[in-house]
Amino acid sequence: MREIVLTITPVSLILAAAQVNRKWYSYSMRKDKPSFTAYKVALSLVTLGTIPEMREILPNGIVEATETLLVASGAASVRKIGWARSPRMVSVYKAFDWVLPGQFEAFASRKAFCEQQVRDGIHAGATQILTLGAGYDTLGWRLAPEFSAVEFFEIDHPATAKLKQTGITAMGQHKNLHLIAADLSTQKLMDVLANHESWRQHAQTVIIAEGLVMYLSCHAVRDLFSQCAASSGVSTRFAFSYIPTGEDGRLDAGPRTGLMLWLQKMIGEPWLWSIRPEELGSFLEGIGWKLVPDLAGASNKHGIEMYGVCQKV
Ligand SMILES: C[S@@+](CC[C@H](N)C(=O)[O-])C[C@H]1O[C@@H](n2cnc3c(N)ncnc32)[C@H](O)[C@@H]1O
Repeated sequence: MREIVLTITPVSLILAAAQVNRKWYSYSMRKDKPSFTAYKVALSLVTLGTIPEMREILPNGIVEATETLLVASGAASVRKIGWARSPRMVSVYKAFDWVLPGQFEAFASRKAFCEQQVRDGIHAGATQILTLGAGYDTLGWRLAPEFSAVEFFEIDHPATAKLKQTGITAMGQHKNLHLIAADLSTQKLMDVLANHESWRQHAQTVIIAEGLVMYLSCHAVRDLFSQCAASSGVSTRFAFSYIPTGEDGRLDAGPRTGLMLWLQKMIGEPWLWSIRPEELGSFLEGIGWKLVPDLAGASNKHGIEMYGVCQKV
């Protein structure tokens, strides 16, 4: 990793990433390894926290909570956190903009978007929050004490969820925060929620799927939205980020899309789903949701992603 830090050119970064990813490839395809992309998002937040303009965008307390969680869970060492905080890492991430334009800084606006959706949803009467593919996200842990009458649920693949639970236990488990370990590619979300004693099927809910749907097949995305509609009450809102489909009909992650599709495949977390923004409304109709562009705010791209907010019909 030292080599990556010392030789910061876009080409060397790609080669270094490919080497790292080749090592990852052999074991990250195994289902018992925690998510690398969730770890990458969390470490990016630590680095973003060192940039004053990004601090203005990031939700209060998120950087400190993420650092604590990464260490307490064993996902990252104190040394790695120190390294993520170093000015060199800002340069490294900024150099990666060549590969994914704007995506590093977009993690800050994505976190702010999701937290705003949760706060607005609670203000509008939601009593349950469900974060799908939560990774090392700290929203539930930070907001649970502030909204003690609201139940916070998180679901992630067991390999990631178990590691996170270790960290949350060390940080102090709030009684209205529930971490659920489930592989949504093999378990039905409806069943997972129905089996949880605190889940209320008819409660107004805010559902968050941040950086998740691109990892699912089209069928799985449909199924996920349908099951969320069947598992939640009237006026539930679903906020998510997605990668748009480009003019050539394939997922559009910017000028290095081909390279990124390859890298994602190499780390065992391939991007599978994208959609044209103008087709999102009709996609969601018929599976229980109405797109509400006004709730999503500005509809422009944030890095390589766009945001969507829909409401249960
Ligand atoms: C890119 S990470 C995003 C993490 C988090 N939402 C964030 O933005 O900080 C994608 C997350 O989805 C989870 N995930 C992917 N496939 C899953 C599945 N089949 N079941 C449960 N979780 C899954 C991964 O474990 C990972 O934590």
